[in-house]
Amino acid sequence: MRHLLEIDDLTAVELGEVLDLARGEHPRPVLAGKGVALLFEKPSARTRNSMEMAVVGLGGHPLTIRPDEVGMDERETAEDIARTLGCYHAVIGARVFDHTVLDRMAAVSPVPVVNMLSDDAHPLQALADLLTITDEFGDRDDLEVAYVGDANNVARSLALVCGLAGIGVRIASPDGFGFSPSDMAQLERVGVRLTVTSDPAEAVAGADAVYTDVWASMGQEAEAEARTAAFAGFTVDEALMAHAADDAVFLHCLPAHRGQEVAASVVDGPRSRVWPQAANRMRAARGALHWLVTR
Ligand code: CP
Ligand code: NVA
Repeated sequence: MRHLLEIDDLTAVELGEVLDLARGEHPRPVLAGKGVALLFEKPSARTRNSMEMAVVGLGGHPLTIRPDEVGMDERETAEDIARTLGCYHAVIGARVFDHTVLDRMAAVSPVPVVNMLSDDAHPLQALADLLTITDEFGDRDDLEVAYVGDANNVARSLALVCGLAGIGVRIASPDGFGFSPSDMAQLERVGVRLTVTSDPAEAVAGADAVYTDVWASMGQEAEAEARTAAFAGFTVDEALMAHAADDAVFLHCLPAHRGQEVAASVVDGPRSRVWPQAANRMRAARGALHWLVTR
């Protein structure tokens, strides 16, 4: 049995298997008669809906649960909740603040646990990101993705998936908001071609895709004002996009804050692929769930 808590839980070959299942147009009903528990400590539009409909597409029944309904680590421990949900469901999905809660659940769960976003990682998003990049450019080995902004959960999983897929990553963050030494070590282990800079234009120069995410993630609301000041000059606008390759696309996991990390003219403009990217969340979820339940 396998879990999917971060992209580097997969080898490059296994990533290829997940993507093949995600791309398959006629999913097999591998979840027929089975349930999938989806536990959310944070809000979600894309992840909840894409996971629920992916479960339906595989013939199963999704059950979404708020943490107060089960009393995560209050009424009982996350471990006992995982053991309990595993009595009834074929997979447990969880969106949590503290990534170690996922580790604790996976350590005892009788069924696969999948990370639906933690403070550290967003692997299902990264799978959809890679699908979107390969839908656009094919399986080329000379692609370069520029990520402009906070080196957060989305950036970390994106860099890992690009590393496994042979895509280069350039990341531009303000000082103090880049990858930590342990992130760098993790990225080195997957062999990602990585450039780190604090100059957005340097990161974007000639890039095939330009990606950004919010400056204050869920749970960082109290830091929003300070972060807005720290990220001045990091908005992805048309002037910054002009440094990218002529056929470059713009990506964002969403939700987007127009006028902050991205200009409305970019996220709503002709280079934006954010809606195909959002749609790819369902293929990615289907591929990941199918792979996990057929190990
Ligand atoms: N991109 C993403 O995970 O969106 P939600 O937070 O709406 O699920
Ligand atoms: N980095 C963002 C991603 C939301 C999908 C957050 O964690 O809030």
